[in-house]
Amino acid sequence: MSRVSLPHRYSGKVRELYEVDPDRMLVVASDRVSVFDVVLPDLIPDKGRVLTALSTFWFEQTRHLVRNHLVSSDPTDFPETAGSEVAGRAMLVRAAQPVRLECVARGYLFGSAWSDYQDTGTVMGRRLPAGLAQAEALPDPIFTPTTKADEGHDLPLSDADAAALVGPDRYDQLRELTLAVYKFGAAHTAERGLILADTKLEFGEVDGELVVIDELLTPDSSRYWGADQYRVGTSPPSFDKQYVRDHYLSIGCDMKPPVPHMPEGVIAGTRARYVEAYEQVSGYSFDSWYGDDE
Ligand SMILES: Nc1ncnc2c1ncn2[C@@H]1O[C@H](COP(=O)(O)OP(=O)(O)OP(=O)(O)O)[C@@H](O)[C@H]1O
Ligand SMILES: [Mg+2]
Repeated sequence: MSRVSLPHRYSGKVRELYEVDPDRMLVVASDRVSVFDVVLPDLIPDKGRVLTALSTFWFEQTRHLVRNHLVSSDPTDFPETAGSEVAGRAMLVRAAQPVRLECVARGYLFGSAWSDYQDTGTVMGRRLPAGLAQAEALPDPIFTPTTKADEGHDLPLSDADAAALVGPDRYDQLRELTLAVYKFGAAHTAERGLILADTKLEFGEVDGELVVIDELLTPDSSRYWGADQYRVGTSPPSFDKQYVRDHYLSIGCDMKPPVPHMPEGVIAGTRARYVEAYEQVSGYSFDSWYGDDE
């Protein structure tokens, strides 16, 4: 065991960023879990390794559609100063200038989009056919970007406001790439008995070119449903943090920090769901992913 002795650059809700050299960084995914934008007081064992394994899988699978920041998730490619503790939970990546937009693609009417549609018949100004039900598949996937808030909740944007933020040409590129990745991911997961309801991508620029950064098509950034449990008009149980959300809802927690600890069963159940998500999506055994015991 040895700690990271690279210069620390950023601490996110889930990830720690370290500088390797001017062009490359080490992104380390912790076992922290955040729900409703609050980081919880307990860790989910192996969550960081699952997120790294799944992102690595998807970065490789989607490479033909869009560039991404991944250089390597193989610990033997990391500088020695990265230490052995990060094996399995770290990615060596190209340092990018983050685009100030969270790029969301939705194939199903759910969550905040469903709420907005019930109130206005639109999703942030994007008109949809009348009479759609909760969790219903959309005629075509839609792009519903939000701001990338440093603190608190990301805010939804109309096409016009989002285009004004990043420039109209960049906006068109971001929309095309996000929808292409979503459609690819949805088609792949459908073959594995899963529905990819929606997902959020982050982009950055390297030498003026767009690359996908951060994580890709993980349960933290996406909503996965088991196809066998999916019914239009209902709220299907999802692969993401449903265990955790349901627990806090059931104890009537208002999610104002500090929130109480989770019971062991909720932690174990959530870990199992993350591992299951990786194995079902990728078809690989999680036991063969990198770890610091090798
Ligand atoms: N290749 C990269 N170059 C520069 N920044 C990156 C790169 N990859 C990821 N990042 C940034 O690292 C941070 C990772 O932190 P983390 O995933 O914990 O998220 P966060 O910022 O707290 O927010 P969110 O929960 O919305 O993802 C993000 O701000 C992301 O934009
Ligand atoms: Mg993130």
